[in-house]
Amino acid sequence: MINEGIVNVSYIIATILFILALGGLSNQETARRGNWYGIIGMAIALLATVFGEVTAQYDKLIVALLVGGSVGLILARRVQMTQMPELVAILHSLVGLAAVAVGFANFMDPGRLAHYAGVELTIHDIETYIGVLIGAVTFSGSVIAFGKLSGRIGGSPLILPARHWFNLLLLLGSIWYGYEFVVQSAAGGGVTPLIIMTVLALLFGIHMVMAIGGADMPVVVSMLNSYSGWAASATGFMLENDLLIVTGALVGSSGAILSYIMCRAMNRRFLAVIAGGFGTGGGTPASSGGEDQGEVIPVDPQETAALLAGAKEVMIIPGYGMAVAQAQHTVFEITRTLRENGVNVRFGIHPVAGRMPGHMNVLLAEARVPYDIVFEMDEVNEDFPDIDVSVVIGANDIVNPSALTDPDSPIAGMPVLECWKGTTSIVLKRSMATGYAGVQNPLFFLDNTRMLFGDAKATLDEVLKAL
Ligand code: TAP
Repeated sequence: MINEGIVNVSYIIATILFILALGGLSNQETARRGNWYGIIGMAIALLATVFGEVTAQYDKLIVALLVGGSVGLILARRVQMTQMPELVAILHSLVGLAAVAVGFANFMDPGRLAHYAGVELTIHDIETYIGVLIGAVTFSGSVIAFGKLSGRIGGSPLILPARHWFNLLLLLGSIWYGYEFVVQSAAGGGVTPLIIMTVLALLFGIHMVMAIGGADMPVVVSMLNSYSGWAASATGFMLENDLLIVTGALVGSSGAILSYIMCRAMNRRFLAVIAGGFGTGGGTPASSGGEDQGEVIPVDPQETAALLAGAKEVMIIPGYGMAVAQAQHTVFEITRTLRENGVNVRFGIHPVAGRMPGHMNVLLAEARVPYDIVFEMDEVNEDFPDIDVSVVIGANDIVNPSALTDPDSPIAGMPVLECWKGTTSIVLKRSMATGYAGVQNPLFFLDNTRMLFGDAKATLDEVLKAL
């Protein structure tokens, strides 16, 4: 058992390291360092908590750490890059579940009424109530998000006839039972309103995410990220642990900022996303190949290599399919070959490409693509008229012109990479299936588009050989 002063100093150091970690993660070049700050901060926080806060029962603690640590290790080793978003979602659910468990444990602690009385008891009860509420919403919402992201639950929004009234009812119910809880708790009761509210909050979480359509899922992921932070913060209040309060608030607010950035990237209002009912489909392949839109023009890897070799300006647009095919290393080799031959190759990254924020940047960094040729959508979207060849690798929604032209499209209003303004676009995908939002893409049928069908890794290997 170390003394309280050392624990507090450790907590402050951990907090500073977490802030540095967030700062580092905001830029690719400093992301690795940011990760290290986070790892060291978490190690210090864990050690200070284990040796400073826990007074007895080390045996149980060690067993729990071993079990939790092993599960985490196995999951992290097994998970495919394409399953990262759903892993993140399910991990958020655990934060919510922990907040609910801590809230109930706190409430049932026999020493509670001896510790607190009067106003202090009321404040403590409100903290517990809010903690359980946020935790339960985070838990059930994240489980549904996991189901949607992994394709176990369909992507189309669930529209109940009176869904806004249903939400309002759940909200009013939670407020009413909160009042009941505080009153009954002072008299030694309160468990019934706490349980009823937990059920209401679980229902709210399920309904909230079920009502959000496939096209809006990026915002849901970052929103639940934010909720999990607030749930951790609420747990910090319940346990009177300053580090948890601050860390939770850091996660909560950075998640909120990310949600805002995602909304802006998709040109959607945050409240409209939460209200739900927008965006259909769930990545289901279109049954018809969109015959009514005309014929597509296929190319083979050799023709693609010839087009690339003859170009001066090339823009590579990666999407979810590049992650599925794990084609990033071949993409890097092609980039290097072309650059050695004087072709100016750049990457244009859409903010919601892939299935999680920064998905493409992580893959490209893994393949050691230099950071200075990777650009955000806004930085390159004006340049397409000067691009000779755009290579769209397993991307679909993020290059769909109908987002700009069809007001009824599930992705209407979302800014997209306007590659069709260049001389030629080559689209790599396996079939004519739709992308995540489930809408057909008119880009494929344009005169200056060529389709290179097949698994992106296999076809790009051929292109590299031909180059
Ligand atoms: P999508 O629109 O989902 O398109 C991906 C395309 O990749 C599919 O059309 C698929 O066509 C192709 N593909 C899959 N596996 C492939 C392989 N092995 N080789 C070649 N092609 C392959 O992806 P996107 O353009 O990156 O857009 C992202 C979408 O996901 C947006 O709608 C976005 O809102 C949504 N979303 C994003 C996030 C975040 S935070 N980024 C989170 C949730 C949802 P084939 O089947 O024909 O091959």
